[in-house]
Amino acid sequence: MKTDDQLEHLRKLRDEARLGGGQKRIDKQHEKGLMTARERIDLLLDKGSFEEFDMFKTHRCRDFGMDQQVFLGDGVVTGHGTVDGRIVYVFAQDFTVLGGSLSETFAEKICKIMDLAMKNGAPVVGLNDSGGARIQEGIESLAGYSEIFQRNVMASGVVPQISAIFGPCAGGAVYSPALTDFVIMVQKKSYMFLTGPKVVKSVTHEDVSEETLGGAAMHASRSGVVDYPAGSGADAIAYVRRLLSFLPQNNMENPPLLPCTDPPDREIVALNQIIPENPNAAYDMKEVILQTVDNNDFFEVKENFAPNLLVGFARYNGMSVGIVANQPAHLSGVLDIDSSIKGARFVRFCDCFNIPVVTFVDVPGFLPGTAQEFGGVIRNGAKILYAFAEATIPKVTVITRKAYGGAYCVMSSKHLRGDINYAWPTAEIAVMGARGAAGVLYGKDAQKAPDPRAFLAEKEKEYQDAVANPYVAAQRGYIDDIIEPSKTRARIIKSLGLLQNKRDTNPMKKHGNIPL
Ligand code: HXC
Repeated sequence: MKTDDQLEHLRKLRDEARLGGGQKRIDKQHEKGLMTARERIDLLLDKGSFEEFDMFKTHRCRDFGMDQQVFLGDGVVTGHGTVDGRIVYVFAQDFTVLGGSLSETFAEKICKIMDLAMKNGAPVVGLNDSGGARIQEGIESLAGYSEIFQRNVMASGVVPQISAIFGPCAGGAVYSPALTDFVIMVQKKSYMFLTGPKVVKSVTHEDVSEETLGGAAMHASRSGVVDYPAGSGADAIAYVRRLLSFLPQNNMENPPLLPCTDPPDREIVALNQIIPENPNAAYDMKEVILQTVDNNDFFEVKENFAPNLLVGFARYNGMSVGIVANQPAHLSGVLDIDSSIKGARFVRFCDCFNIPVVTFVDVPGFLPGTAQEFGGVIRNGAKILYAFAEATIPKVTVITRKAYGGAYCVMSSKHLRGDINYAWPTAEIAVMGARGAAGVLYGKDAQKAPDPRAFLAEKEKEYQDAVANPYVAAQRGYIDDIIEPSKTRARIIKSLGLLQNKRDTNPMKKHGNIPL
């Protein structure tokens, strides 16, 4: 063959591969309002940066007529490109080829880019849209999934892994996304469940739709599987790009430092008035976060799950940080099972990837009740404690109001290696609330008093004045300084600067045993 013919042949094969399962199936995907795998990759990566691998790879199955159904690339598009100029490895399942179902060779393609990402220290983004295991292949397909799972686990804490779900994701296939650091789903177009509505009906006799059982709204608010329920495929991809902007490429790097136009010493006078006079009145902690971070820009994660604890990313003077904050505007900011798990997983992610954590505290304690105790609030509450205690990243804490009991200890306190701990003058740091304390200490005396209620009210005030303030903790050095709320941004930025070369270690061990 002459060179020109060879080039022509190559171009023809590439064009064929780019068509995936063919124009008809591409049209069908568009009719359903969905993008193709390649369109998703184009939107994710910087223009023209995508380089594809294994475009000519095909499956090896010869059973069930599969020798007649061979597609170049076999249902998954893999390769690398850049997002904001930084390398990212990517795979996108192609629903137009046999429903994006996973074959042995399909899994090999994904494993290849995961291995490269690990060796070269760059994030992996998986764009999922698949009918699950390729039914014609059987065990080969299960083996392929397991190879991917193994790599997800090995890559965990080494390179960031992000999954976006655009279509079906069912059966054991859900476990690869579940093992990654962040999961984004497209509302009303995608679902994730172990067993679908038909099996549920036959086993438990429940009638349930795909959306109710495993839609984005459910996973983002109830199961906690999903970090962001996207309004569209494009929205999901925009979220992934923005998420990446806060993250380092791997666990050996620091997160990116961006130029900052927001003055680091900006005073925020409004914060001096944000705490209501009534200690039981709510205020919005999101406002405190927004006011203090660069350009009021807070990138929230898991917004709809356990909203009594806020987590997300932001920047202080261009430095990328993780933010953890009790939200008094929801359930008084109490810690419960879900919020403890949410906070623990987020802090552990930040610790894996050298992202400092800034913690804002206003927490009345852990949520009482049988539902919480039966559900294991002891075991689950211990998770957030464990996460803060094991974290060696810079940790800056600001107590705005309540820090009561075990919840004080847990929320990045000095005792859990908090590096710099501030309190506002409005802080109340104590074993328990004044009313409860007065009841325990003076309940019996009150019964003997002429006016038990007045007696208890007086004791409550005594306790409040004596201990429910930041000065007792500051006298012990558990609080490094009591700061004016208006200066919070400036003090956080100075603290993060001070801690930027922090080195701390944990004892050598295989791994700890977090109470799962
Ligand atoms: C092979 C598959 C397939 C699969 C879909 N297709 N799923 N081929 N293996 N798992 C093919 C269809 O035959 C069809 O081919 C094309 O993909 C598009 O599928 P449609 O059914 O036409 O599309 P749609 O109506 O949108 O429905 C999508 C679907 C449905 C909901 C995903 O196809 C479906 O229920 N598929 C089976 C899902 C499943 O049971 N998978 C195994 C789960 S067990 P043609 O040629 O007609 O276009 C599992 C275990 C993993 O995954 C374990 C990991 C440890």
